[in-house]
Amino acid sequence: MRQNHPVFRYGNSVHVFKYNDILNVLSNHRVFSSQFRDLLDENLSGILNEKIAPSILILDPPKHTELRNLINYAFVPKTIDNYENRIRQIADDLIINMLTEKNVDIVAKLSYPLPVMVISEILGIPDNDMPLFKIWSDRLASSLGRGPDIKTQYEIADYFYGLIRKPDKLKGLLKDLCTVEIDGRKLTDQEIVSFAILLLVAGNETTTNLITNTILTISENKKYFYEMQNDASLIPAVIEETLRYRSPVQSTRRYAREDTEISGTEVLKNDIVFLYLGSANRDEDIYKEPDLFDPKRNNKRHMAFGHGIHFCIGAPLARLEAVVVLKEFSKFIKDFTVEKPSGDDRIDSDIMYGFKKLIIN
Ligand code: HEM
Repeated sequence: MRQNHPVFRYGNSVHVFKYNDILNVLSNHRVFSSQFRDLLDENLSGILNEKIAPSILILDPPKHTELRNLINYAFVPKTIDNYENRIRQIADDLIINMLTEKNVDIVAKLSYPLPVMVISEILGIPDNDMPLFKIWSDRLASSLGRGPDIKTQYEIADYFYGLIRKPDKLKGLLKDLCTVEIDGRKLTDQEIVSFAILLLVAGNETTTNLITNTILTISENKKYFYEMQNDASLIPAVIEETLRYRSPVQSTRRYAREDTEISGTEVLKNDIVFLYLGSANRDEDIYKEPDLFDPKRNNKRHMAFGHGIHFCIGAPLARLEAVVVLKEFSKFIKDFTVEKPSGDDRIDSDIMYGFKKLIIN
């Protein structure tokens, strides 16, 4: 597609595959909007907005800027770094549990539970509620790419409303979100609940896939695994290259607020513009030998976390989780092989790239 149809229009959708075209669209939020609820039938968007405020992911400025500033305040990388030791403990426990088993499904035993446990702790979810939380995040993950699972979102919303209305019991990020204030502006209950749900939707499955994709990729490129065992400083570069090479989020979208064009292809008002981040990350005009996994390449800023005003807020956390897991994995596991996953093992989604299971021996 990148060579023959780098931008093509089909019906009222436009598909964009080249790095620079995607960069331009993501940089131009005035023309290419994220505010998809504007396109919905007024009744439906009214019902949705009443219960769950639109998350920052589907807002444009000025509302997006206002919310993102407040959220950034509570969710800064410095706060995230404080979780390193706890992430290591969780990773160690999960990996040690796997050591006595043969044919271990790395998704079920490590890459799926870890991000759910970490985000629940960061949010300050009471331990007793963890099982509930896992069921919900599972249901949300399985609905990805198939439209919003409104029933589950409502259940989670009710749960979070219950929690934040007992302020003396709050801890962690939920408490910070309830108290943060900039220029007299605080987050409303609806905004807090909407953000907490977004963390579950946007943060868990993506990080699961990054961990699984990295383990699969190093099994195919064993020399880097052995190198990592001797020199842990290579691990962040292995994670960055996996983000480029097997991007967990393959695409995102915008809609056109007005008639425009992308590299000469006509785009009409209200067209949905699909941006293939995974393709941008393999663009041969940007990367030499893009289909080669090479952690030592000069990794020009990949687009796995997006670009522009919606650049992933959880990138430092996802990177930290993946680096810590890989450090612990290469410390405890002396050697391993992976059973080549089949097409059926792939996650059934146009947006996500990852695996439902990955067996290691
Ligand atoms: C936004 C990818 C992990 C929270 C995004 C976007 C991408 C992305 C591509 C931009 C979407 C767009 O522009 O339409 C990823 C990947 C992850 C990851 C690949 C893991 C490897 C996380 C984590 C969290 C998180 C761990 C939080 C705990 C968010 C939020 C946004 C976002 C809140 C919306 C930001 C905004 O709209 O301003 N992510 N993400 N993500 N991500 Fe992540």
